[in-house]
Amino acid sequence: MKVLAVYPGTFDPVTNGHLDIIRRGSRLFDRVLVAILSNPEKKPLFGLRERKRILMMAAAGMPNVTVDSFDGLLVDYARRRGARVIVRGLRALSDFEYEYQMALMNRRLDSEIETVFMMPSEAYSYLSSRLVKEVVRLGGSVAGLVPPEVERRLGLRIGNGARGGRRSHRGAGRGSRG
Ligand SMILES: Nc1ncnc2c1ncn2[C@@H]1O[C@H](COP(=O)(O)OP(=O)(O)OP(=O)(O)O)[C@@H](O)[C@H]1O
Ligand SMILES: [Mg+2]
Repeated sequence: MKVLAVYPGTFDPVTNGHLDIIRRGSRLFDRVLVAILSNPEKKPLFGLRERKRILMMAAAGMPNVTVDSFDGLLVDYARRRGARVIVRGLRALSDFEYEYQMALMNRRLDSEIETVFMMPSEAYSYLSSRLVKEVVRLGGSVAGLVPPEVERRLGLRIGNGARGGRRSHRGAGRGSRG
């Protein structure tokens, strides 16, 4: 039986840590479905369609990986797509408690779906989307931590390239830089 795994997240934006987990998952499972939570409450910097486009580019070299989006209950979505596995990445201990809670809640909601945790390469074990945005906002470089396309778009959106630029985002648009 072919095993389809769902890897859910906000991916705002995708980092090399996410890609590390996706790559590990793609070796382990027949198919990996990267599922972007639309998550408007989190006020994402990148809209759903842009997050999706970026992820599709970043995962283009992995033929058994597809990108989709969802809202509502993850287990409902997984069941609908025929996925038996939920993949999550574990960085430091700080991820553990929240992930543990989520995994047990999801099991309670659907005992047929198993959550599998994977650890990224050490180089990415401190990396988060939030931190990447913070560093760019403060003028630092995130080269090597995100795909080049993400670096470029972050620069345009919140880095030096943001001046006089595009649609502004909470605290990240024109006139808000220090
Ligand atoms: N660097 C990383 N290494 C391993 N797993 C990661 C990494 N970054 C995120 N993940 C995992 O990817 C999944 C989706 O995470 P999410 O989209 O919330 O990313 P995030 O980087 O934590 O973003 P944010 O900073 O906005 O919370 C979660 O299971 C999370 O633990
Ligand atoms: Mg997170």
